[in-house]
Amino acid sequence: MSKNKELARANYFIAENKTSVVMTYRAHYHLMAPIGWINDPNGFIFYKNEYHLFYQFYPYASQWGPMHWGHAKSKDLMHWIDLPVALAPDQAYDKEGCFSGTAIEKNGRLYLMYTGVSSQNGRTYQQQCMAVSEDGINFTKLSQNPIIDESDLADKGSIQDFRDPKLFEHEDNYYAALVTKDATDCGKVLLFRSQDLIDWSFYSVMLQGNKDQGVMWECPDFFQLDGKDVLIVSPVNIPKRGHEFDNTSSSLAFIGTMDWQNGCFQAENDHEIDGGLDFYAPQTVQDSSGRRILMAWMQMWGRTMPTHDLGHKWAGSMTLPRELAIVDHSLAQKPASFVYENLRIARQGQNLIITEDESLLMENFSDVSYLQFIVDFSEAESLTIRLAINGSSSLYVKYQKEEKVLTLDRNKFGYPITGLEKKPLSQRSIVTPLKDDRLKLEIFRDTNSVEVFANDRQTLTTTFYETEKGHGVSLQAVGKAKIDLVKIGRIILSKKAN
Ligand code: FRU
Repeated sequence: MSKNKELARANYFIAENKTSVVMTYRAHYHLMAPIGWINDPNGFIFYKNEYHLFYQFYPYASQWGPMHWGHAKSKDLMHWIDLPVALAPDQAYDKEGCFSGTAIEKNGRLYLMYTGVSSQNGRTYQQQCMAVSEDGINFTKLSQNPIIDESDLADKGSIQDFRDPKLFEHEDNYYAALVTKDATDCGKVLLFRSQDLIDWSFYSVMLQGNKDQGVMWECPDFFQLDGKDVLIVSPVNIPKRGHEFDNTSSSLAFIGTMDWQNGCFQAENDHEIDGGLDFYAPQTVQDSSGRRILMAWMQMWGRTMPTHDLGHKWAGSMTLPRELAIVDHSLAQKPASFVYENLRIARQGQNLIITEDESLLMENFSDVSYLQFIVDFSEAESLTIRLAINGSSSLYVKYQKEEKVLTLDRNKFGYPITGLEKKPLSQRSIVTPLKDDRLKLEIFRDTNSVEVFANDRQTLTTTFYETEKGHGVSLQAVGKAKIDLVKIGRIILSKKAN
């Protein structure tokens, strides 16, 4: 089938079927595909004054299948406009899928570099390919594809696992950071270099992983921020470290310095990027004002997907856009300013005292609720915030002062989700110290997701699927928690995307 036929088939299918998607758990302000399955964000770029986000996409079912690149654009990362599918698997070198990759602008054109997956005689090939567009919407795959193949990889990694190019420029050269694994199953980031985006040669092993860092790395990102170099990878089966890395797939930030003499990244610190149940494969973009913004897939591999089980014809969405900074040698995330432009605060209070008597803060935790708390723990051991209370069941967020542990839990709440983890996993925690005995928490709900931001720095992201409409929000402390400030609001998109 020619390229145009496969793309046309996908776009026709979407147009014909998108109204049959069941809306129950659809988000209001997070990016989703119109129908079908999505995973990783791809090709995140600020192009001609708009953000473009592509994503791993299988339109025909709510399960992973031969990957396409879905496409949406936005002026503020909140109001999204769906665009036609950008890439479909239609060539010998990508007929099993157009896997993850990035975008770059050159002379006004938009280039997408992605991994073409194919197989021959039972052997899988993951090779790097390029497509180009004059208008940012219609893409043509280059006749030179694949532009990085098995001969370029040589003995540096495994052609079965060689994927997810991240493109960037440095001193008159283009670089592609690519993940692979070595003979002992350790992850590895390789750098390839090019002058023209078409002829590539191996440059260096940017970072070699070890046994404590997972069996394969996926989806690298690399950028400069606040005087540091940051390398992100998404490791598979990374061993647990304290509260970190409970999920089967995790996202890891290395903070350090890139040594351009030898092409090696010198890591000084590393940590998990999000402490929730549903966060993977983040990508970042720098916009014209210099902000570095991150978005990730808000689901997890190896778990059941209720919207699929229930026949809702869609699965997966992206996180909120988060603005990054380096704080204390770590990657800090806070909601991007665009999020607040759509926030309506309805009520706010000060100096509430919370004790062991559970007190109801609000009766209706709506689909788009926002809560902010600044809590003084000087006389409290812990605080539990129950969300979407339904009799004895609810989601909850809990802070335990002595352990410095913040937990987000969906245990026994809503439609069951099971996974490949050894023990069923329904809560996750992060270690987060207080500042002047205080914790700042922001909680964003969008129908089936909760994103918790702690101290403008750390995050916990989790999806859930209510079976009956939950109601209010309550607070309960051990000891006496003083709420210096509480804000209750909603995210209401201010206008139609245009
Ligand atoms: C990560 C990943 C990538 C791959 C893509 C396939 O979630 O496994 O490594 O390119 O998904 O959809």
